[in-house]
Amino acid sequence: MYILIFEPHKGCRKILLDGKTQKINLGRSLRDGYANIQLSSDFLPDYVGLIIYNEGKFYFRNYGKIKIFVDNKQLDDSSVAVRLVHGSMIKIQHKNNKSICIGCINGEIDNRWRIFNPDEHGFLNVQKDKKEYIIRNVENMIFKGQRITTDCFIPKNGDIFIYKNHIFCCMKDNLFFEVLKVRKVKKNINYNENIIIEGSNQKHHNINPNNLNKNKVKKVNNRKPAIVMKNVTRYDKKKKWYRLKDVNLTIYSGRLVAIMGVSGAGKSTLFDAILKRLKLDSGDIIIDGNELGHVPQFSVLRKGNTVQEVMEFYASKKLKRYSKQERMQKIDYLLDKLNLALFKQSLVGRLSGGQSRRLDIAVQLLNEPKVILMDEPDSGLDVKSCRELYEILSRLVAEKNSTILVITHNTHMACKYPYIDDLLFMASQGRICFYGEKDKALEYFNINDLDDIYNAVENNQDYFVQKYNNLISRRDW
Ligand SMILES: Nc1ncnc2c1ncn2[C@@H]1O[C@H](COP(=O)(O)OP(=O)(O)OP(=O)(O)O)[C@@H](O)[C@H]1O
Ligand SMILES: [Mg+2]
Repeated sequence: MYILIFEPHKGCRKILLDGKTQKINLGRSLRDGYANIQLSSDFLPDYVGLIIYNEGKFYFRNYGKIKIFVDNKQLDDSSVAVRLVHGSMIKIQHKNNKSICIGCINGEIDNRWRIFNPDEHGFLNVQKDKKEYIIRNVENMIFKGQRITTDCFIPKNGDIFIYKNHIFCCMKDNLFFEVLKVRKVKKNINYNENIIIEGSNQKHHNINPNNLNKNKVKKVNNRKPAIVMKNVTRYDKKKKWYRLKDVNLTIYSGRLVAIMGVSGAGKSTLFDAILKRLKLDSGDIIIDGNELGHVPQFSVLRKGNTVQEVMEFYASKKLKRYSKQERMQKIDYLLDKLNLALFKQSLVGRLSGGQSRRLDIAVQLLNEPKVILMDEPDSGLDVKSCRELYEILSRLVAEKNSTILVITHNTHMACKYPYIDDLLFMASQGRICFYGEKDKALEYFNINDLDDIYNAVENNQDYFVQKYNNLISRRDW
């Protein structure tokens, strides 16, 4: 679980609770023998409370010196620890209305809070009324650890709430939001569960408080390699040209990866290699699972069939073990998710560019492959459809822990929006310049804006290929 600490005038701090430590002291002072999270607001007592980890669950216990609420409930008895769940909020309140809010989330975010603009981000039905926000589509919204049951919701300063894969915080009459990559949020949680902590004879492991107090957090490592490529090379003797050269790459599950690079660099060829369609001179490629989804650069769907017929045809091939009814349900679900429900009876040849790209994708999602390769799925899409597409993809990655590789020339979408996790940048002759988290690319290429990535690489391809290879060779395989 992560906790997000909002202290007045100090912004947001994100800390990973990795469960290795049983007791974490919260307060202005550090406690000997405990892991500590130091809060610095001057109205706080030295010791505020404890976060306890017990049998896979987190709890909060009050030290009883200051007013504290967990999910609306004021804590009065310091021997009772209250369960913290996804969406829980600890509110530490001072009488002058100063307060610290601590939100709890299962999942990962990357500390890039942006101001929520209702016109730009249409997924939340928000009205702003005299500085106050009123949110109408509150179904499935989580606030203080529970789903909201009213018709609308008016967030107050300091409130944190979660909607789909976004986490919001309301501060100074602005809504800030951050994309949350929820993984395996447990269902049917008993939100009111309490436990009694007996004495202090439980063993606790010490962890270095300095590590805990830093903004940087350790990564949750529930991922496994989805694609591993080792020394993959293919040389074209006739053209005297490498189609892929010394490709070393490990892509973990649960990542949405944008593959970029100049035309002819070898991006589609990389996919051919992963799909085992390219004969290699040397090297190995290991894929998690035996099914791969592939949306090719140019659609191969039959244009004379209707959307429904195409879906049924592929469902009969890919979902052999399912009943007809189950297949139909799945088809309806996917067409709905990809905004194609209205076009079921349309001929494929009559679809617009964007619609036919979405159909290509719907076909690939039928059997829910763990790894999906998409070659320019966004080509020809307008900005709105493009965003919708990436939103669908990022949700798929978060919900199913799948791995999606998207070749794209859409630098803006890949870099400016929160959907893409990692960038893979290719240089000519099938070489890799960079693979890693999107945000790390700035430092790597020494640029301030990811839009400048092509300029940075243009005359320095060899340098960055070398840099990548040096980095890779230092890692353990
Ligand atoms: N079947 C083939 N035989 C030989 N060379 C090929 C073949 N297909 C592609 N190439 C060459 O391999 C190189 C990489 O092609 P690839 O299609 O992978 O590029 P790309 O990065 O996907 O480019 P684009 O962005 O234009 O789609 C190019 O120089 C191309 O001419
Ligand atoms: Mg290509």
